[in-house]
Amino acid sequence: MILSTEKTALANTEFLEETLEGLKQEPKRMYSKYFYDETGDVIFQQIMNMEEYYLTNAEMEIMKHQANHIADVLSDNNAGFDLIELGAGDATKSIHLLKALIDKKLDFKYFPIDISEHVIAELEQSLPAELPALNFQGLIGDYFKMLKKETAISDRKKVVLFMGANIGNMDVQEAQTFCMGLKHLLSPNDILIIGFDLKKNPRKILEAYNDKAGITSSFNLNLLSRINRELDGDFDVNAFEHYASYNPENGACKSYLISLQNQTVNIGSEEFNFSKDEYILMEISQKYSKQEIEELANASGFKVVKYFTDEQHYFVDAVWKVA
Ligand code: AVJ
Repeated sequence: MILSTEKTALANTEFLEETLEGLKQEPKRMYSKYFYDETGDVIFQQIMNMEEYYLTNAEMEIMKHQANHIADVLSDNNAGFDLIELGAGDATKSIHLLKALIDKKLDFKYFPIDISEHVIAELEQSLPAELPALNFQGLIGDYFKMLKKETAISDRKKVVLFMGANIGNMDVQEAQTFCMGLKHLLSPNDILIIGFDLKKNPRKILEAYNDKAGITSSFNLNLLSRINRELDGDFDVNAFEHYASYNPENGACKSYLISLQNQTVNIGSEEFNFSKDEYILMEISQKYSKQEIEELANASGFKVVKYFTDEQHYFVDAVWKVA
């Protein structure tokens, strides 16, 4: 058994190693998965509530209005199944699907997976109160490790949920590797429900990552503060500036921090030099067309079954089946 202090130490080693490795690259980069410490979680909540961040409302609309139809797709041959959610968070969107599945009296068990112990503990509190009839078991850890563990516990049909456009944090090549990895853990006719942010007016996308109030800026800068706090760093957060970009040619929305001066930053015993105007790549949020989603499905061993989109066609939850 791993004690929680040891687990924290292990996680911290990985954070340190990947931070140093990313800053030694040319050009320098960081990994957006590290945005989500306690402060980052709070800022991300604020992002989801921003006027400009259309993604959350769009996917919420899909779930509120079409959960019934999604449930119908899952109930095709009445076989019992396991519903496994990767990165469940507070499940405010998936709860609509869970309700629809319960209303249809389908035989399923819900397995929310999250790397955060805290997130799973909260779900264990809230889910029984909200959905007394729900059969569920939370799993804490890495998506692939936990999915592997779940497939070892049960051999029922799998439905994997990966919402929130989290796939966007991978570039297209990484996304394909990820989807192929999922496919290898699944069996023919298993299902993946996966959320994508669609290509749209470039200005609309850019504004979502370049809000006037500067919330996205503080989301990015918080990673520098986190490195200061946890990895013995000495970033001057006032000497870096958020820069967001969207390239309509390839659908890549990227966030950078720009060094405002020549400066040296220490992390533990390591030293990093930044030139004035040098950038650190902080995050990619890849946007897709439906055709590109279909290409990704086919290239990774799935077939598209159905698309569920919001009224404005901003977002899609795609239902894929293992081919
Ligand atoms: C949680 C990865 C979907 O890329 O849109 C929001 C994170 N970054 N604003 C996204 C994020 C800046 C978000 N995802």
